[in-house]
Amino acid sequence: MSTRVRSYSKINLGLRIGPPRPDGFHSLSTLYQTLALHDFVTVTASPAPETTITLESNHPGVPTDSSNTAWKIVEKALTSLKMCAKVHIRIQKDLPVQGGMGAGSANAAAALIGLEKELNKELISKERMAIAAEVGSDVPLFLVGGTSLGEDRGQIATPYPDLPPTPCVIAVPSVGVSTPAAFREWDRRIAEQQASGPGKPGQSALTGGVEIDRIKELSRVYASISHEIRPSMTGTSGIPPQGDLARDLLPALVRTGILTNDFQEVAFVQHPSLRDILHALLGKDQVSADQQAITAMLSGSGSSLYGLYRNEDEANAAAQRVQQQGTRAIVTKTLPRSQYWSNMFAGPEQA
Ligand code: C5P
Repeated sequence: MSTRVRSYSKINLGLRIGPPRPDGFHSLSTLYQTLALHDFVTVTASPAPETTITLESNHPGVPTDSSNTAWKIVEKALTSLKMCAKVHIRIQKDLPVQGGMGAGSANAAAALIGLEKELNKELISKERMAIAAEVGSDVPLFLVGGTSLGEDRGQIATPYPDLPPTPCVIAVPSVGVSTPAAFREWDRRIAEQQASGPGKPGQSALTGGVEIDRIKELSRVYASISHEIRPSMTGTSGIPPQGDLARDLLPALVRTGILTNDFQEVAFVQHPSLRDILHALLGKDQVSADQQAITAMLSGSGSSLYGLYRNEDEANAAAQRVQQQGTRAIVTKTLPRSQYWSNMFAGPEQA
């Protein structure tokens, strides 16, 4: 038997970078949001005298050896379960590989979920999260789903009151961005600004990135807005808010100005064409104010960008604007936690 798992993607509804840490990572704070757009990860596994792992993918860019995140997590999970197994992983790649959507991390989480189902064994929750965090900072969020707050180096994912399903356009630029390189460039720019002294004319908002207060602001504002809109939403029950209350949450967050991504400061300087794509997603000067994106920005360290819209027609129109500029655009929607988990397992592949 095989288990076929939908490996959903994510966007970052804002991301703030803190100072580099002695372990080489950066403190950060971000709001993760899962999307309906997904790859498929199929796991076939059975107990065996010794462990053998094989991996295949329809995409030539996906590594098929132990450097693949899905392979790594399966190895770690088997060690934790004190089991040996023959495991085959098949990754059907439909998501863009340019980065920013957590595709590789999602594949790892899906492989773990598939492995547990195949072997009919579950790791204890704390152990699953620890293994996921070892494989990558973005893996644990996919064991939570929906809207979640990412803290520390991004690996501590806490479920947050869910946004309602919201039409979303993903723009897939042809340029790729390396996450470690983006963090290094961020540090270089911070150091440069600090050397030029505080408060000098022309100084951008970058220096604020080193202030821990600024990192905490995202969670503080989200908690207070969701509390204002519906007091019971501040818990972590995972129950999505309903109706008008839910529809108010995203616009209210946008009005606070907290939904920004620090990586834009780096990415837009290195790849100026990304700014034009953002402009097309937003639709400013192109369509009336009520048809523009509720918000649009770079996702993670890029290069993918996204826009969120009031309805599907506006999302389709935005996708057309992006495509007219020669950039691939994909229309999807945000995926609340309940749907994330209820649609996780897919039937067998049709021949
Ligand atoms: O955790 P992950 O494997 O995704 O991180 C890849 C690289 O990105 C790290 O080795 C580090 O250079 C950088 N990174 C960081 N701070 C974070 C997350 C990632 O500096 N919070």
